[in-house]
Amino acid sequence: MNDDVKKYIYGAVTVFLVGVLAWVAIVYINSCGFTLTCIRGAQTVARTPIPTLLPATMPAMQAGDGKVIVSDKCRVAAVDLIGAWVEAGSSETEAFQFTDINGLNCESNFTEVMPLFVESNFWVSGSLSCVSCHSVDMTISLAQLDLSSYAGITAGSRRADAESKGTDILGGGKWEGSLLYDFLTTAKADIPGHTEAVSDLVIFAGKPLPTPTSTPKP
Ligand code: HEC
Repeated sequence: MNDDVKKYIYGAVTVFLVGVLAWVAIVYINSCGFTLTCIRGAQTVARTPIPTLLPATMPAMQAGDGKVIVSDKCRVAAVDLIGAWVEAGSSETEAFQFTDINGLNCESNFTEVMPLFVESNFWVSGSLSCVSCHSVDMTISLAQLDLSSYAGITAGSRRADAESKGTDILGGGKWEGSLLYDFLTTAKADIPGHTEAVSDLVIFAGKPLPTPTSTPKP
């Protein structure tokens, strides 16, 4: 090889190296500026992740009357809850038992049955409450039936006046043969307030009974 060729090669290599250095310098200065303490490439500080789920230790919601709402309720068709109450003798104070839709043994009492007759917009969206038609005043109450109290419900329908008893709507304790069962579970096209059957409305009610511990088999 003669000297001329060597010169060309050295020249080309020098130009190439200078070019690479210049390029690295431009990239460095571009991202870090004129400083030697650049930490751009350092790992970002690991921060505590933002929780997306509410911690399980959140205080339970408070209802208006200060009672703590807990979700340990049973689930049951509203019609079956009334049925269980009727079959158990329709007591005003004593607890009755029922099996909920998940097969749990549960316990409830009349205080959970009463609101079903009083609340509007309950059985069907937008529906009137039962008591808006079946109220305490026998002169205007439809079917002379008062569903506004325990005494009214057990006094029955087609009553002559506030003192007398009428037709037992609870079927004498035989739920499926009762007038109440019939009017809740059978749509009656020509009776206002009863045009829809409401058998499948499921509600939260009652409390699960402690499960009996099974005796271990030998
Ligand atoms: C829009 C008014 C209205 C509403 C609301 C209403 N009812 Fe009635 N209900 C009537 C009328 C009217 C009759 C009478 C039908 C007849 O004369 O055969 C009746 C009859 C009944 C009867 C039969 C009484 C008998 O001796 O024949 C029962 C039981 C009954 N209602 C229960 C209820 C329940 C429970 C609710 C709430 C889920 C309710 N009703 C809501 C209007 C209403």
